[in-house]
Amino acid sequence: MSKAIEVKVPDIGDFSHIPVIEICVKVGDTVNADDSLITLESEKATMDVPSPTTGIVKEIHVGLGDHVSMGNVIALIEAVDAAADEEEKSDAKGTATPPPAAKPPAPRAPIPAPRTTQHVERTFDGKTHASPSVRLYARELGVDLSKVQSSGPKGRILKEDVMAFIKGVMQTGATPGNVASLGGGLDLLPWPKIDFEKFGPVEVQPLARIRKISAQNLARNWVMIPAVTYHEEADITDLEAFRVSLNKENEKSGTKVTMLAFLIKTCALALKKFPEFNSSLTTSESGEMSLALKKYFNIAFAADTPNGLVVPVVRDVDKKSVSQIAAECGELAKKARDGKLGPADMTGACFTISSVGGIGGTLFSPIINAPEVAILGVSKSAMKPAWNGTEFVPRLTLPLSLTADHRVIDGALATRFNVYVAQLLADMRRALV
Ligand code: COA
Repeated sequence: MSKAIEVKVPDIGDFSHIPVIEICVKVGDTVNADDSLITLESEKATMDVPSPTTGIVKEIHVGLGDHVSMGNVIALIEAVDAAADEEEKSDAKGTATPPPAAKPPAPRAPIPAPRTTQHVERTFDGKTHASPSVRLYARELGVDLSKVQSSGPKGRILKEDVMAFIKGVMQTGATPGNVASLGGGLDLLPWPKIDFEKFGPVEVQPLARIRKISAQNLARNWVMIPAVTYHEEADITDLEAFRVSLNKENEKSGTKVTMLAFLIKTCALALKKFPEFNSSLTTSESGEMSLALKKYFNIAFAADTPNGLVVPVVRDVDKKSVSQIAAECGELAKKARDGKLGPADMTGACFTISSVGGIGGTLFSPIINAPEVAILGVSKSAMKPAWNGTEFVPRLTLPLSLTADHRVIDGALATRFNVYVAQLLADMRRALV
């Protein structure tokens, strides 16, 4: 004969109003005595509320996220005949009370404490077995336990099994929740291995150390930063004329003022006006994200060297003249070509400029140098017709390509930054007002 048993939240000590973090059964499931019905999570422990009997789940009275206290009804279980003896035993333990219509049970012993993370094994999804502490560990790491190979007694999943699973996932580069998921994780195919000699002669050269390091940095920055490139054109006709005449004046002293130096100075002014560009995303130990806004203005520039790309830094550019910046860039570029840059020459940048204008190009998308949040790419200036209101006139036009981290900088802000840089390059008097 079957008998309906109302399962209630037992005595859970000092706690009340505890959230339900997992419902382990659904209506219609057959459960054994001691199988977990729900899991509660207090500030200190995870607790399973077990079924008092073998039977069929008829009703579930709680939902995920509900808060429950001692005595709240969790579920209605119909104890099956075969389990009657078991149920009697359970009743004697007192983990459940019958519904009001049922025959009053024998007096109960005190309700036992619920099972906590420290000592109890449980059934999960009717298939996998793991203790609450292992489930909590898996949940914190986003691991789907049904995918974990068990090595414990009776197929129980141990903490070490979860760790081994994570290790495997790290090696394949997939996500812990779903190894071949859509979204979340890169789900990358292995790098193609091709015998190129099948197609023709090949010479294999080792990669220079700089190239190996920058390859890793670039790959990380490319995949981790949601970056967008914004293009702009600056009219540098007057600035270039000024620069050429200045260099003529200083021909004898040998000091050459470069376009790069003007760009560095201009970007420092723009960083001051738009402080988000002079920032970095940081995370605390608890994983909380914040924005570090820098009050100094160090600007790096990409330098092409025979051994690969390096990025020396000009410090405190806000306090230096364009001539000083040009001289320093010249020294750093020489050191770069000679392979003599030290770590101090290449650290502490707030923002980077990558100028290929001396070579050519129209537009390109530079990759942000993390943890910076933006980089300005500069291509070759060219004479272009510009409408002055009455006619087209030839103007020397400099293409700018600003790549910005969308987590920090939205499109409107990036465009404002670009426009301001272009305005300054067109007329430096703006820096004074
Ligand atoms: N448009 C047109 N001409 C330009 C220019 C531009 N945007 N920028 C520079 N030039 C011209 C200069 O006028 C100069 O010409 P000149 O000799 O007739 O006077 C010539 O190009 C060289 O310019 P200079 O100012 O001496 O050097 P630079 O500023 O162009 O470059 C470095 C200095 C270090 C940036 C450069 O050597 C370099 O390495 N560039 C490549 C950076 C790179 O690889 N970026 C990509 C990273 S992925």
